[in-house]
Amino acid sequence: MLRGTKVGLRARHEDDIPILEAELATDVVTASRATGDPWRPITPGSKGSQFAVDDTAQGLAQFSVVELAGGTLVGTATLWGIDTHNRCAHIGLGLLPASRGNGYGTDVVAVLCHYGFVVRGLHRLQIETLADNHAMLRSAERNGFVREGVLRSSSWVMGEFLDEVLLGLLAQDWKPAPNH
Ligand SMILES: CC(C)(COP(=O)(O)OP(=O)(O)OC[C@H]1O[C@@H](n2cnc3c(N)ncnc32)[C@H](O)[C@@H]1OP(=O)(O)O)[C@@H](O)C(=O)NCCC(=O)NCCS
Repeated sequence: MLRGTKVGLRARHEDDIPILEAELATDVVTASRATGDPWRPITPGSKGSQFAVDDTAQGLAQFSVVELAGGTLVGTATLWGIDTHNRCAHIGLGLLPASRGNGYGTDVVAVLCHYGFVVRGLHRLQIETLADNHAMLRSAERNGFVREGVLRSSSWVMGEFLDEVLLGLLAQDWKPAPNH
């Protein structure tokens, strides 16, 4: 397990999936805003679940996020689009509704930076998020990500095109938290 100050990132367990489906995938608005994909209903237990992990997939590392104190599941974290030639990847995360606003998101980004830069030897990490997702923007900026641009009207969300902000962090600019 990878440890931050408040959360740990571990492998996806089979019994995480129904919780993630019930808490994250059924919320049409948040799922539409967070994924960039059209929401569609997924049958519980289906292999098509976005939370089912293919451990053989290259270019992708999917984690479940747990509280360090007690081990309760609080969300998902992903390093995706891992490009070993250009040594870059993208970060994605989603917390269960009751676990938002406690500093976990900021800590998840810190742990994914450690995984990307230290474990995987990457040079650049990138985050794309909707321009009004203040919690995500702040979680990224608290870890040193800088806004590199606005992708105007790039995301179709619930009937309208919204802007996304692109943030980047280079390995040389990353300041790991003391416990990493
Ligand atoms: C985005 C998300 C991962 C952030 O995680 P979080 O644990 O809620 O965020 P944190 O508690 O670490 O807060 C980070 C910062 O944002 C601020 N913040 C938190 N919620 C906020 C809100 N609703 N509005 C404005 N600011 C907010 C916090 O005050 C904190 O700022 P600070 O460091 O200056 O005190 C989480 O809210 C989430 O899962 N949202 C739904 C899915 C999603 O949007 N995923 C990202 C898709 S790109």
